[in-house]
Amino acid sequence: MIRRPPRSTLFPYTTLFRSVTGTDTGVGKTEVAGYMARMYSEDGFRVGVMKPVATGVDGPCNDAQILKGSCASEDPMDYINPVFLRMPLAPLVAAKKEHKKIDLGIIWDRFRELSTCNDLMIVEGIGGVMVPIAKKGKRTFYVLDMILRMKLPVIIVARPGLGTINHILLTISAIRTRETEIAGIVFNHTRRIERDASIKTNPALIERLSGVKVLGIMEYNRERNKRRIRWLRGIGHYEDKGKISYNRDRKPAVS
Ligand SMILES: Nc1ncnc2c1ncn2[C@@H]1O[C@H](COP(=O)(O)OP(=O)(O)OP(=O)(O)O)[C@@H](O)[C@H]1O
Ligand SMILES: [Mg+2]
Repeated sequence: MIRRPPRSTLFPYTTLFRSVTGTDTGVGKTEVAGYMARMYSEDGFRVGVMKPVATGVDGPCNDAQILKGSCASEDPMDYINPVFLRMPLAPLVAAKKEHKKIDLGIIWDRFRELSTCNDLMIVEGIGGVMVPIAKKGKRTFYVLDMILRMKLPVIIVARPGLGTINHILLTISAIRTRETEIAGIVFNHTRRIERDASIKTNPALIERLSGVKVLGIMEYNRERNKRRIRWLRGIGHYEDKGKISYNRDRKPAVS
């Protein structure tokens, strides 16, 4: 139980809940989610972050530490990362090998509580949308099911270069099999690539082929605190009574 007043009084009606997923592991989900969390927290929002499930760790994961630090969240670590497993495998497999059962109930409870305590929620997935988390009877429960259950519009983080069209379109078609909103795509340059002609043509092509907007691009930078997302579009509206449109240099108006 988190003991503090629910939400800030700054923006009592605003909510912006997003899930940050990726076309793969290591594409920069934490970087993008952390950047967004920092951006909103600097603007006075009380930001809630979550990495519900992590593997390959002995305790609350590094991603959760980064997310927490990025928005100076006071929420407890066992809320931010309630489920973690030691083996570096998909959660379903790691849990089986470790003879553990992933408690989905705790994820929903903690998500609900964090949602009521914060103005915004940004949730990082694990790997991509088709990563299996647990078995529910005969059904497999994937990251996509988690996003659906949390009712979170998805931001897809993707590599910018060759190969990304395939990964992005597959991710989008998987998401579209379910009733989940796609907020848009953020390209992230995790490597310094000098010669890849596809980087220039990919954004427009992917928008045309999929109808999903490219929201922004994070350039390569060795130093984390110097990494920036160059927003090309608004990153989503604040769903409130009066539809507050939030417009700063770094965040273009809602399109
Ligand atoms: N724009 C960038 N410039 C340079 N390095 C980056 C950039 N974005 C991410 N990285 C580095 O790439 C690595 C992967 O990024 P990150 O951890 O955000 O990926 P992820 O998708 O969250 O991975 P995981 O699936 O493990 O959660 C990290 O070491 C991070 O510091
Ligand atoms: Mg991560």
